[in-house]
Amino acid sequence: MGSKNKIILQIWNYLKDYEFDIFYDAFAGSNVVGYFMKTQGKKVITNDFMHISFLGSKAIIENSDIKLDYEDIQFILNHENDANFIATEFKGLYFSDEDNQFIDKIRFNIDLLTDPFKHAIALSALIRACMKKRPRGVFTFIGQRYDDGRSDIKKSLPQHFLENVEIFNNAVFDNSTRCSAYNALTQEIKVEADLVYFDPPYFTLNSDNDYVRRYHFVEGLARNWEGLEIQNHTITRKFKSYESPFSRKDLAYAAFETLIKDNQEKIIAISYSSNSLPTKNEMVEILMKYKSKVEVKEIDHLYSFGNQNHKAGNGFNRVKEYLFIGS
Ligand SMILES: C[S@@+](CC[C@H](N)C(=O)[O-])C[C@H]1O[C@@H](n2cnc3c(N)ncnc32)[C@H](O)[C@@H]1O
Repeated sequence: MGSKNKIILQIWNYLKDYEFDIFYDAFAGSNVVGYFMKTQGKKVITNDFMHISFLGSKAIIENSDIKLDYEDIQFILNHENDANFIATEFKGLYFSDEDNQFIDKIRFNIDLLTDPFKHAIALSALIRACMKKRPRGVFTFIGQRYDDGRSDIKKSLPQHFLENVEIFNNAVFDNSTRCSAYNALTQEIKVEADLVYFDPPYFTLNSDNDYVRRYHFVEGLARNWEGLEIQNHTITRKFKSYESPFSRKDLAYAAFETLIKDNQEKIIAISYSSNSLPTKNEMVEILMKYKSKVEVKEIDHLYSFGNQNHKAGNGFNRVKEYLFIGS
């Protein structure tokens, strides 16, 4: 949700003429923006409070040369163990019994990999396999209600896993800088960079922007549910969402102002949309307090909301995507 995949070239087009060597992607999500900047030779630092994002970043942004080899893959697939957490806790919810056993087995074996980058690649591949196999790629409902027969749902989970190992392996490269990944609350860490990019959840009054609610199963899988309390009264068996000021109207304005103030020495780029709060004018006003020049670029983008009330074609999701640049 909210990936900049389709508009990364437009974002790059607006940023490429600024002088920067170190790029901080402070809400990295799917990592497409940070990864793209790595391909442009930038030293990239990423952060996201979700572990699934952090792992992806570790696997293909921070990592410059380690891949999973044939023996690692054989070990992950074949080493016998009797893990059964998912088969028990999530029985009948998202995947078949057979798939749950596969996830249990693979997940257990991945933790036996001692190299942190191999661990991140394998776990990212398992996470992506689970998302691909799931109707709509989310865990907000149980069962197969939205199975539209697409090939990704028909494909077996082991097949997805292997394909994703290959995808992640192939994405590993060295751009001659030392990139790094953090897994923290953006408002709580300080990162040295020339250009900071803020792409937080977009706050709107009528759709929710809760990433944890959509991806709780894979986020739990990433963390082995350690420190997470599954809410037994929920049919999805989700855990309590992480708190983010960007998901609350009463906190979002101050959160933006603090981020901008704390990073006023750097070039600041912010992605936001026309139906969100703060509004375009409010955002410009906040930026103008700390930066001498503020530009607003508009990118026409048919936005994909997680909320299914916003179906393509009904006009609701024809929002404008803004890129604010303070320099
Ligand atoms: C709009 S998405 C980022 C999308 C990303 N640019 C991409 O292209 O995929 C927002 C991200 O911010 C993360 N997030 C929300 N609040 C956060 C916070 N307070 N600290 C760190 N990460 C946060 C979410 O987990 C989510 O991945």
